[in-house]
Amino acid sequence: MELIEAMEWRYATKQYSDKKVSDDVLEKITKAIHLSASSYGIQPYKILVIENPDVRKKLSAHSFNPQINQASHLLVFAAFDSIKSDTIEKYVELIAKVREIPIEDLSVFKEKALNRLLLKSDEDNFIWATKQAYIALGTGMIAAAVEKVDATPMEGFIAENFDEMLGLKEKGLRSVALLSLGYRDVENDSNARLKKVRWPREEFITTI
Ligand SMILES: Cc1cc2nc3c(=O)[nH]c(=O)nc-3n(C[C@H](O)[C@H](O)[C@H](O)COP(=O)(O)O)c2cc1C
Repeated sequence: MELIEAMEWRYATKQYSDKKVSDDVLEKITKAIHLSASSYGIQPYKILVIENPDVRKKLSAHSFNPQINQASHLLVFAAFDSIKSDTIEKYVELIAKVREIPIEDLSVFKEKALNRLLLKSDEDNFIWATKQAYIALGTGMIAAAVEKVDATPMEGFIAENFDEMLGLKEKGLRSVALLSLGYRDVENDSNARLKKVRWPREEFITTI
């Protein structure tokens, strides 16, 4: 679908049908998320794709959002709880390998990243990592719409409980946002017929 048409078509789906998202369509959406931009390119978050209905059912007990259980898939966006020098070292090695350049060429970049990130507190870096994860969340929403897959971004869940159930803490991760994917149940989702509400364009966008 053309981008603006897709953005007008999408809405935060409240009620899903039983239809499943196919593997190849899911692959396109997760690929778009994988290609999402991030500060320094470090991608300080991971994505969990939860297909298993039993796991989704258990998770849904820790949220007011039934979409977690109803939808075809649930994506969990989990931000790094801190940034370690090891992560920056490994990322610099990855750039050198992918771009086939000597690692020494990246010493200025590495110093900048180390100075910028390691001088901050873990909590500041977690907030920074969360912002990067939200860019990916937006990318995932747009990609889903282009593929005519319905999606719901969600913050309404108890993150600590999700982290415990998914074993995220041990991995240095904290869940920050969710994205359910599936297909709308048009008959039963009254939100499917609601008009979009956005601030008037002239109030929202200033051209200088
Ligand atoms: C970061 C974020 C968190 C949200 N959390 C929830 C949520 O927990 N449950 C829900 O039903 N909708 C949630 N929404 C959906 C918004 O309510 C919805 O996007 C907004 O009202 C605009 O409507 P539209 O997306 O249908 O155009 C969230 C949206 C965003 C971007």
